Amino acid sequence: MLEVKDLRYAVNNNGASQEIIPAMSYRFQKGRFYAITGPNGSGKTTLAKLIMGIYAATAGKIILDGVDITAKPVNERAQAGIAYSFQHPARFKGITFRELISIAANTDDATEILRLMKRVGICSLSHLDIPVDGKLSGGEIKKIELATTIARNPKVAIYDEPDTGIDLWTIEPMVKLIKNEQVNHGTTTIVVSHNKAFLEAADTVLILRGGQFFFDGTFAEALPHLNNISVCDYRTCGDKTYDECFR
Ligand SMILES: Nc1ncnc2c1ncn2[C@@H]1O[C@H](COP(=O)(O)OP(=O)(O)OP(=O)(O)O)[C@@H](O)[C@H]1O
Ligand SMILES: [Mg+2]
Repeated sequence: MLEVKDLRYAVNNNGASQEIIPAMSYRFQKGRFYAITGPNGSGKTTLAKLIMGIYAATAGKIILDGVDITAKPVNERAQAGIAYSFQHPARFKGITFRELISIAANTDDATEILRLMKRVGICSLSHLDIPVDGKLSGGEIKKIELATTIARNPKVAIYDEPDTGIDLWTIEPMVKLIKNEQVNHGTTTIVVSHNKAFLEAADTVLILRGGQFFFDGTFAEALPHLNNISVCDYRTCGDKTYDECFR
């Protein structure tokens, strides 16, 4: 189980403290599939980066299978079994698809590397030895990011908007792939997404607003919260409503 307990993340905004995650407590049960959605800027990526250790919590705890990992750096959290697929993956000059997947999967076997590439929808043999640099398309870089996360076979996999820039033909197989990893490996799966396909595939949908989960339930139960509500209804700035902020 992955638990966040009174987790808080605040930043210094021109001398004033800005609460991005005010105080969050939640238990992600082992082997379940969670979809986290919410308006832009509601704190989804911040929460993911806090769990991975890319951001240091201002207060609170992060506990994985009973072990307090709050003070552990990214590499130790990765060794403990947490993997994070970035919303905006890094590009590496000179490092190829083959090398990146080889490191993540801990294998030099080209057949295994190609199999992983094919699973995320990269079907061209010629991609094996091209660099993961600025020349790659937006969708290609997201696919390789997904492949490296799956290759690690993590206990907890966090995918931050895995479908951004992904073509129509790849989204459905991607949902199935992530679901299969959850079912076959018992991976605790957290997908940050605005896509209905991921929300439907999840066991639990969480809606984040102002750094807090205000909904926790099934997709069917989430629907009234997702339909016919303007994004502005969800936005706040401090204790003001979105409309008040821009009046
Ligand atoms: N280091 C920082 N300094 C100041 N503000 C920050 C910092 N990091 C995040 N924020 C702000 O915190 C809020 C939450 O950002 P975050 O990236 O977590 O949103 P998100 O829910 O992932 O949004 P999106 O759907 O657009 O990806 C945003 O308003 C962002 O500008
Ligand atoms: Mg984000």
